[in-house]
Amino acid sequence: MANPRRASGLHLQNFSDEETPLPQQPTPPSRLLSIVVFLKRPHAFLFLLSLFVLLTWVSLRFHNPQPRYSINGSSFPPAASSLSQRESADRDANLVRFSSVKFPSQFLKDKRGWLLNPVTAARDAGISGGAISCASVHVGEIRPGGVRGNHRHRGCNETFILWGAATKFRLENPSLEGGYAEATIGGDEVAVAASPSGRAHAIINIDPQRTTFLLGCQDSLIFYNDSSIDFNIWKGL
Ligand SMILES: *[C@@H]1O[C@H](CO)[C@@H](O)[C@H](O)[C@H]1NC(C)=O
Ligand SMILES: *[C@@H]1O[C@H](CO)[C@@H](O)[C@H](O)[C@H]1NC(C)=O
Ligand SMILES: *[C@@H]1O[C@H](CO)[C@@H](O)[C@H](O)[C@H]1NC(C)=O
Repeated sequence: MANPRRASGLHLQNFSDEETPLPQQPTPPSRLLSIVVFLKRPHAFLFLLSLFVLLTWVSLRFHNPQPRYSINGSSFPPAASSLSQRESADRDANLVRFSSVKFPSQFLKDKRGWLLNPVTAARDAGISGGAISCASVHVGEIRPGGVRGNHRHRGCNETFILWGAATKFRLENPSLEGGYAEATIGGDEVAVAASPSGRAHAIINIDPQRTTFLLGCQDSLIFYNDSSIDFNIWKGL
């Protein structure tokens, strides 16, 4: 008879023991104490874990910002001394570049971004040998490390628009040592390039992360089974 009463008494006592930390909270100088009490609770672990994850994310985000364009250790835009060298490489490769982020620029007139007409782009950019009409249009991407082209059309002139990633444009140019010219554009640049009929070209994505996008406009309808195309011009690309 005495056992159940004692048992319920014990139960009550245990219950009030568990509750004792709570009534201590409201005294004014005990904010620190209430934090300590909070941290002792099991769910505080989750709170601390989230805080830790958040701080880790913040620190990684600010210590490793998006990489600036860096090709072979030099970041874009290049130093003034290498500018004329770059300009002559662009000229030899029949390529004109413009910034996709800085005003003013040839095809970037306002904050919405750039827009151009592939038919007139080469002419407007002052380069010759491109297509003056688009009988055939290709649009696509080149993922990091990928190559497109590396072929020679003997039946069409072609204008390229390239953007999105650090990309090399190689154009056959028999007047140069090595037989080709090469221009490298940065990820925030857009290039207009022309490959006249009979000159080989290759587009190489050299970016570690970003994808190159391209549009090719050809002035005649060509098929890739056509005998007027020479493939695999440069070994090792
Ligand atoms: C980087 O530059 C050096 C010297 O300018 C050159 O020898 C090397 O081939 C370049 N590497 C790449 C990946 O372009
Ligand atoms: C390519 O451009 C040249 C020069 O503008 C033009 O004479 C020629 O008809 C064009 N098309 C082909 C397929 O060569
Ligand atoms: C090339 O392919 C096109 C369409 O796929 C076909 O109509 C044409 O006959 C082919 N030409 C040759 C030379 O095989």
